[in-house]
Amino acid sequence: MNQENNRVIIFDTTLRDGEQSPGASMTLTEKLRVAEMLENLGVDVIEAGFAIASNGDFEAVREVARLMEKTSVCSLARASRKDIDRAWEALRDAKRPRIHTFISTSPLHMKYKLQMEPEQVLEAIADSVSHARSVCPDVEWSCEDGTRTEHDFLCQSIEVAINAGATTINVPDTVGYTVPEEYFSLIKMIHDRVPNIDKAVISTHCHNDLGLGVANSIAGVKAGARQIECTINGIGERAGNAALEEVVMAFKTRQDELPYTTGVVSEHITPASRLVSAVTGLTVQNNKAIVGANAFAHESGIHQDGMLKNAQTYEIMTPESVGLKKSTLVMGKHSGRHAFREKLKDLGYEVGDNQFLDAFNRFKDLADKKKDVFDEDIIALVDDGFRVNEHIRLLSWDISCNSNEAHNAATLELEIDGDVVTVSADGDGPVDAIFKAIKSNCAPNAHLQLYQVHAVTGGTDAQAEVTVRLEEDGKTVNGMAAHLDTMVASAKAYINAVNKLVTKREKTAPAELSA
Ligand code: KIV
Ligand code: ZN
Repeated sequence: MNQENNRVIIFDTTLRDGEQSPGASMTLTEKLRVAEMLENLGVDVIEAGFAIASNGDFEAVREVARLMEKTSVCSLARASRKDIDRAWEALRDAKRPRIHTFISTSPLHMKYKLQMEPEQVLEAIADSVSHARSVCPDVEWSCEDGTRTEHDFLCQSIEVAINAGATTINVPDTVGYTVPEEYFSLIKMIHDRVPNIDKAVISTHCHNDLGLGVANSIAGVKAGARQIECTINGIGERAGNAALEEVVMAFKTRQDELPYTTGVVSEHITPASRLVSAVTGLTVQNNKAIVGANAFAHESGIHQDGMLKNAQTYEIMTPESVGLKKSTLVMGKHSGRHAFREKLKDLGYEVGDNQFLDAFNRFKDLADKKKDVFDEDIIALVDDGFRVNEHIRLLSWDISCNSNEAHNAATLELEIDGDVVTVSADGDGPVDAIFKAIKSNCAPNAHLQLYQVHAVTGGTDAQAEVTVRLEEDGKTVNGMAAHLDTMVASAKAYINAVNKLVTKREKTAPAELSA
C-alpha cells in the first residue's frame, strides 16, 4: 500500500457494531433506509451485519448488498468456515462484497474466551482467511482485542493473515483501552515490522470507553492506517465507536495538521445523524460534537457579540458545512406542497414520493392544530415517519384522567398483524393505564426501563417526543414517537418499542458473537 496516499477509507459499522448498542435494534426497512443514506453520504464500506447471527441479520446483509450501487458491503464472520460461507451467501449479489473475519489474539481472550493455544489461533487465521479469499476477492481480517495483544504475536498473526490473502488488516481497540500515543506507536510498529504489510491497508476500530475513540483513530491514521471504522453519532457496543462525523470534520477543519481526505459529503452529516437517532431511539446529547443541538449555539453575550462581528471568532466550521441550514421559510397551515418540499430539502431530507405525501399529510394535520410550525416540529414529524411500525399500529384511543384514581383508564384500538383489537386497563395515572393496556395484550414479559418526555419546541402547544425503553429476556429496545398529545406520543412510543421487541425476538445472537 502506498502510505503517501492520504485518502482515508471510511468503513461505517452503524448497522453492525452500532446495532450492538443497548436498545438499538433496527428493522430491515430501517436498515435499508440507513444504508441508502450511508451510500449517499459517501462512505466507502458498509458493514451491514453479522450474517450468521440470525436470519434477520442474514436478510439485512443480503438486501443491503443487493441495494448498494457503488459502496462495498461487508459481513462480519468469526474464524470458521461455516460463518464465512454464510457471510458469502448473503454477500454474493453485492457489486463490491467484502468478508470481515476476526479472531481474538490477546493472551486474555485466547485463554479465557477462545480457550485456544496461540498456535491454534494462527492455524485458524490461515484457514479462515484463505477460505474467505477463495470465495471473495476483498477480505478484511481483525485481531480482536488487538491493543492488548503481545507485539511479537500480533505481527506474526498479521503476517499469516496477509499471506493467506487478507487485503485489509484491522487493529481493534475492542475495549477502548488505548491512548493516542500508544495506538500511534502500535500502528507504526505494525507498519515497520510486518514484512508483507505493503500488501494490505491498515485499519483502525476504536471503542470509546475512555472517550478517546476519535483521537485514537486519528493517531492510527497519522501512523499509517488508511481505513477508519466508525459509526454515525458514535453509537456502538458499550460507550460506542469513533464517531464518523467527528473524524470527517476533524480532517476537513484541520487540513493544516491532518492532511487527509475522505469521500464523505459533509453536508449530509446532519440528516444522517437524525435518521440514525430516529430509527435506533438513541437520542444525541445536546453538547455532542458536530451533531448535538448545541454544537453551533452561542449562549454567552461575549460570544454572541463576537459572532456578530465575525463568525470565525467562535466558529471553527460553519453549520452549513455539516448540513445544518438556517431556514427563513416560515411554515403554517397555508403552506403548500412546494413550500413543504423546499423546507424538507433545507432541513436535509431527501424523501421518496410516498414518504413525502405521508409527511405532508402529517404536516397539514399538525398545522391545523398548531399555529406556528417550527423546523423542530417538522424534524420530529418526519423522523416519526421513519419509524416503521410493522406488527402493531394505534388506530384510536380514549384516555381519561381525573382526581378519582379509579378513573385513570385507557381504551385503545390497535391493529395487530391486520386484526383490529380493543385493549383497555386502569392505572395509577393515564400513562400507566396506557402502558398496562398494551403490555398485557402485546408484551406481557416486557419491563419498562425508561420513560422520557421531551418538548420538541417551547410553548404549551409543543409536540411531545417520547422515548420508551423495554427489556424482555435480557434484550432491550428503544421506542420513540412524537405527537401534540403527550398521552398519544406515549402510547405510540410504547408500541414502537413492542414492534422492535417482536423483531428482536426473531434474532438469536449467541454470547460469543458479540464483538
Ligand atoms: O470491537 C471489536 O473488536 C470488533 C471487531 C469484530 C472488529 O467489533
Ligand atoms: Zn467493535
